[in-house]
Amino acid sequence: MDLITMDDLTNDESISLLEDARRLMPVADGSAYLPLLEGKVLGNLFFENSTRTRLSFETAMKRLGGEVLNLSDVGSSVKKGETLYDTMQMIDGYADIAVIRHPRQGAAQYAADAVEIPILNAGDGAGNHPTQTLLDLFTIKQGHGTIQDLRVVLVGDLRYGRTVHSLSHALSRFGASLTFVSPESLMMPEEIVRDLKSNGCDVAETSDLLSVLGSSDVVYMTRIQRERFPDEAEYEKVAGIYTINSDDLANAPSNLMIMHPLPRVSEIHPSIDSTSHAWYFRQAFNGVPTRMALLCRSLGVPIPEVIN
Ligand code: NCD
Repeated sequence: MDLITMDDLTNDESISLLEDARRLMPVADGSAYLPLLEGKVLGNLFFENSTRTRLSFETAMKRLGGEVLNLSDVGSSVKKGETLYDTMQMIDGYADIAVIRHPRQGAAQYAADAVEIPILNAGDGAGNHPTQTLLDLFTIKQGHGTIQDLRVVLVGDLRYGRTVHSLSHALSRFGASLTFVSPESLMMPEEIVRDLKSNGCDVAETSDLLSVLGSSDVVYMTRIQRERFPDEAEYEKVAGIYTINSDDLANAPSNLMIMHPLPRVSEIHPSIDSTSHAWYFRQAFNGVPTRMALLCRSLGVPIPEVIN
């Protein structure tokens, strides 16, 4: 099974993945060893920078007893001009499943169409990032006990940010009310807003972050995606536009979750790190159990009911 956008999962399938991830927590944190994927090989194909996504997939595979091949454009024949199609033909033979991150929107679907093995989209340009969404949903469930009917604020680069494209889509299917906070030039693409609204989602748009902090369950901050701007001067106009610090949260609900897919640049002041609102580091860790659940599902390997 491929995972290219959140459309590839029904709500029930997403919920069951989150449940699998919860059961896999002791394996994710290293307190239990469960070699469910022994003998399997994961191809980690990263044509763009990554810390968390690449490493958490690698950890997930290794903690389940599997092996990992890492390919990046440095040190591979991609630099010699090999096409993505040809590279995929090789991976089809070398690995049982592959994760791909690529700067071009649509590249993960293209890769999936080129091969037999399951392909997991780890970010295609400004398109989608569904495996991030699964770990985001998992984190929200940890914090609020549910992913249903929440008030979620998505902040920053909603135009180029693939994490918020996938997340807003998933949240809308779980009854969320969404507030989009961005400068005018980085608003959520119209077709996404139209889609969300036509699915019955309550969507509000503003450029004023502080005005919505008091009435939210989750505030999801994002980095301005500098590398996607056609013009550096346009980036400079909006760089650092949204930042929050612990004083801004003085009147926030005590269970308000501040999340961020990371890396952060200046969006979240370190003064928030030691508060109960800070969820972003736990969120990053949650990439391990959720990606374990996804790898098992995609390879058709069932997860035992009880793990200890
Ligand atoms: C995000 C990405 O690559 O889209 N990072 C991640 O996967 N955790 C967000 C970003 O780079 O800003």
